[in-house]
Amino acid sequence: MISIRLKTIASLIDYNSSVIDIGTDHAYLPIYLYLHNITKNITATDVSSNVLKISLKNLQKFNLENKIKLIKSDGFKNIIQRYDIAVVAGMGTYNIIKILNKSDIPNTLILQSNNNHYLLRLHLNSLGYKIEKEIAIYEDNHYYIIIKYVKESEVLTTEELLFGKSNNLKYYLYLKNKYQILYERAKDQKFLDYISILNKIIEKIPE
Ligand SMILES: C[S@@+](CC[C@H](N)C(=O)[O-])C[C@H]1O[C@@H](n2cnc3c(N)ncnc32)[C@H](O)[C@@H]1O
Repeated sequence: MISIRLKTIASLIDYNSSVIDIGTDHAYLPIYLYLHNITKNITATDVSSNVLKISLKNLQKFNLENKIKLIKSDGFKNIIQRYDIAVVAGMGTYNIIKILNKSDIPNTLILQSNNNHYLLRLHLNSLGYKIEKEIAIYEDNHYYIIIKYVKESEVLTTEELLFGKSNNLKYYLYLKNKYQILYERAKDQKFLDYISILNKIIEKIPE
């Protein structure tokens, strides 16, 4: 059983598109995509040789070692083929930004950063990518933010840069509570500003 997080990422993949999963780790996402007939045109990569040994073992369990390409690569460095979609998930924003620092990256990106979503949204906006869909999911006591980007410019408000476009009331209430606790600890005005922005966002969400 794969995680809700990876299933949500899989739900954003267009059928029969060519996909590269950068930093695949156990190769759970590529295996899921293949077995669920979402696409069979998949490359899984990782920077770590040790990790790739585990990825290969997992592919072998499903007889997929000749169906899903496995490549050792730091980001796109060893990648020649062009893909419709790149998935970069389960890493920090600085690493994701480093990986995307290349001229011919795919027109569709599915990104799940573990931190600094403001910087990620700001950076992708500056690269000319538009948030097509943003989903906040709760799993294992944690909110994960998954964003599907397409190559198209868009203007984002400060509110959208800070808190995204998930429209998930429970997530915004969770953030409000988090900033309330942080404010009580640090008495930093910026947390009150965040709470006030979140209140405005929450008001606009239909019940
Ligand atoms: C926490 S795992 C996430 C695995 C999977 N993407 C997921 O979301 O469940 C991060 C993986 O990214 C790999 N990684 C980190 N930096 C990378 C890079 N620059 N290029 C390729 N893989 C990288 C690590 O070796 C590790 O296997």
